[in-house]
Amino acid sequence: MIRPNAHVAMMDAYALADLSAPPGKRLVSLCQNESLRPPSPLAAEAAARAARDQHLYPDPDWTTLRAAIGALHRIDPAAIICGNGSLDLIGCLARAYLAPGDAALIPAHAYPFFRTATLATGARLDTAPEKDLTVDAAALLAAVTPATRIVFVANPGNPTGTRISTADLTQLRQTLPEDVLLVIDEAYGEFADTPQDHCFDLVDRGNAVILRTFSKAYGLAGARVGWGVFPASIAAEVRKVLNPNNVSAASQAAAAAALSDQGYMRETCALTTGIRDRFRADLQGTSLCLPQSFTNFALIRFPSASAAQAADSALRAEGIFLRAQGGADLPECLRATIGVADDMALAAEVLKDWCKREGLS
Ligand SMILES: Cc1ncc(COP(=O)(O)O)c(C=O)c1O
Repeated sequence: MIRPNAHVAMMDAYALADLSAPPGKRLVSLCQNESLRPPSPLAAEAAARAARDQHLYPDPDWTTLRAAIGALHRIDPAAIICGNGSLDLIGCLARAYLAPGDAALIPAHAYPFFRTATLATGARLDTAPEKDLTVDAAALLAAVTPATRIVFVANPGNPTGTRISTADLTQLRQTLPEDVLLVIDEAYGEFADTPQDHCFDLVDRGNAVILRTFSKAYGLAGARVGWGVFPASIAAEVRKVLNPNNVSAASQAAAAAALSDQGYMRETCALTTGIRDRFRADLQGTSLCLPQSFTNFALIRFPSASAAQAADSALRAEGIFLRAQGGADLPECLRATIGVADDMALAAEVLKDWCKREGLS
């Protein structure tokens, strides 16, 4: 028998969305935090042009894309690394900086892939409590041990949708031990972005990395393009463990073109947040609790885990797929990606009817 590494055998596989719609029902997928609309038409055109040269390997240095990201965000392109989705970069950071005996630290309701990436290295995963479903910097600091090598924080968080301020993140970085790497995952950064509202400058300290993605606001989840800002010493190590030629030429071209259409991206964000806030307002008056979200999804908290499960079943019976959150230690919650207005109105209707039947409205 071929035996896997003991720590791999012990870990669970990352739980992917289950999209098995009942026969005859239109599938309404609100479970993967995808964009409610396709990317800018410029992205599709650029990808089609680049696809003509698919007999060639892509640019392994993402030169054009890095230049475009750098120009938009006023970052030195040399500090940028692109990934096959930001998952690629999270995995590389874990592989480069974690080993058996080490620990990574995450907030209690953090993005579950931080767990997968950590456990795959044989390192331990520690968690720190959150306050009101929001990252608690003081609790993270209190949970640091001599084994801690990386602290992963998604801001805004997934599945919570909440965020902490740049000032709090700066304070966290300043207070963490200098030899602990702080990875700030801003996959949903564009939904809350104003020109001042980012923390790329933290990278200058040499022990923080900021990650972003084209999968959410830019609508390119299927293209698999993420990027990050890295201190030079960390970039050098991450590049050693990165698969060469990790982002296809078509995806690089699509991402650069999407970036050039900021108006379209901003419109996607405005459309999304408008529908999100309407969905939240629609469910007011029920016993469901929806924390304020700074992302393209809404977390829905039910009175109990069994109630969340029952509501999930009621939604699935109508072909509507939300995402259960046991993996983020929130079994009493479902997460709804914000889809088009009609789908969200339908989901709200099904939930309100369910609440009525259960005596929860
Ligand atoms: C917080 C967070 N980080 C990273 C990712 C992965 O994004 P990508 O598609 O860039 O790999 C997601 C996707 O849902 C996410 O929610």
